[in-house]
Amino acid sequence: MHPQQLIDRACQAREHAYCPYSGFAVGAALLGASGAVYTGANCECASYGGTICAERAALTAAVTAGERQFTSLAVAAGDTPVTPCGICRQLLAEFGDMTVICADATGTHSHETTLSALLPEAFSAAEFEKSR
Ligand code: THU
Repeated sequence: MHPQQLIDRACQAREHAYCPYSGFAVGAALLGASGAVYTGANCECASYGGTICAERAALTAAVTAGERQFTSLAVAAGDTPVTPCGICRQLLAEFGDMTVICADATGTHSHETTLSALLPEAFSAAEFEKSR
């Protein structure tokens, strides 16, 4: 899949963001190894800590569908490209490395990086398996 197609899917998902408190709409699209695309939008909560980011919404949709291997993630929000937050980086890392395409809300400006570059020296299950 061309990166722009994944960005476009993230932009489409962003249209469904529920963000009455921040007004900051985010969309994400995750490309599975199967070729399927899973999308998510941020969903905010009056009890702010209950908010779910677009990236984690896309990831949980993918896992629910049985997909556990991912090629790339596109995230779209803001006037300039955004990167996934720390909590999302950590949950995404559960499923290995992947390309991360960071785009603005219009999907016209973007740059590519990787999850391992965004979350170097990540904590993982390997740490507690070592100490068992
Ligand atoms: N948000 C995301 O959906 N993804 C990110 O990577 C950064 C933050 C959401 C959470 C909240 O609804 C709003 O953006 C402002 O933080």
